[in-house]
Amino acid sequence: MLLLAAASLVAFVLLLYMVSPLISPKPLALPGAHVVVTGGSSGIGKCIAIECYKQGAFITLVARNEDKLLQAKKEIEKHSINDKQVVLCISVDVSQDYSQVENVIKQAQEKLGPVDMLVNCAGMSLSGKFEDLEVSTFERLMSINYLGSVYPSRAVIATMKERRMGRVVFVSSQAGQLGLFGYTAYSSSKFALRGLAEALQMEVKPYNVYVTVAYPPDTDTPGFAKENQTKPLETRLISETTSVCKPEQVAKQIVKDAVQGNFNSSIGSDGYMLSSLTCGMAPVTSIMEGLQQIPRPSRFVVTAVE
Ligand SMILES: NC(=O)c1ccc[n+]([C@@H]2O[C@H](COP(=O)([O-])OP(=O)(O)OC[C@H]3O[C@@H](n4cnc5c(N)ncnc54)[C@H](OP(=O)(O)O)[C@@H]3O)[C@@H](O)[C@H]2O)c1
Repeated sequence: MLLLAAASLVAFVLLLYMVSPLISPKPLALPGAHVVVTGGSSGIGKCIAIECYKQGAFITLVARNEDKLLQAKKEIEKHSINDKQVVLCISVDVSQDYSQVENVIKQAQEKLGPVDMLVNCAGMSLSGKFEDLEVSTFERLMSINYLGSVYPSRAVIATMKERRMGRVVFVSSQAGQLGLFGYTAYSSSKFALRGLAEALQMEVKPYNVYVTVAYPPDTDTPGFAKENQTKPLETRLISETTSVCKPEQVAKQIVKDAVQGNFNSSIGSDGYMLSSLTCGMAPVTSIMEGLQQIPRPSRFVVTAVE
């Protein structure tokens, strides 16, 4: 009896594996693709740019500080796989003026062609107890973490829909899956990205455009080091219960999920479990995402039929 149950389970998993390509999007081909990475001059964004470059993509890096951009460009160029590859640098504040962001995206498209993948990674974290945080901190974090992702996405989406292809990645955070002590300003700005991503995915899926939301854990970057200088004790203690990831590892997973068209991108077993527990009614684009959301199988079946 037990043997029969085990055999049925194996057969079921094999069946899921076989039908997987029928419901999953076609992977994006990175060789020759134009990938725009906001926040690409440092930390996770820079590693995402390197990962895509290593796979043959053309890169546009977007950030404010020109020196840091040029330094990152040199570092990324060391990983070229052919002599045609280009790294373009654009200095702009993605959170301030939509027309400025739209303009620079237009310039990038004129130079390197339509954007195949946009990675919204520019962002920052500031922590503190709710009553200790300046009101301007809430405005600043919504501006950079939320609007700084809305503007570049808004600037590329029409062309992606026209071409019936593309990927848009939002880099949220595990603090965008659950609220944590000290993160009243940061968590809300990262939760906002999920609402944006879910609604946008529903709109663009018929155009073969796929959205990914990444939820990185604490990651060893210049931004993380800076944030640690002002973290309240309680936030630091919570943070110390998990290990700090390497940005290269986080970047690899994000690029893999975006290429596959997965809606959810989490890192490691902690990240997987957190995503399972907080999946809500998130879109399902692969068998694995369906299995992760096993508490609501009916939704999975509906998506498979779509
Ligand atoms: N590190 C972590 O532990 C962690 C965990 C979860 C999520 N995240 C998220 O991952 C993303 C990257 O974090 P990171 O730690 O790699 O940060 P980082 O090392 O500080 O890099 C941030 C990047 O964003 C750019 N940037 C910041 N504000 C900008 C603006 N207004 N306009 C354009 N570019 C801007 C920065 O360049 P300029 O300053 O020159 O503009 C830099 O290139 C952020 O969204 C962060 O919230 C990080």
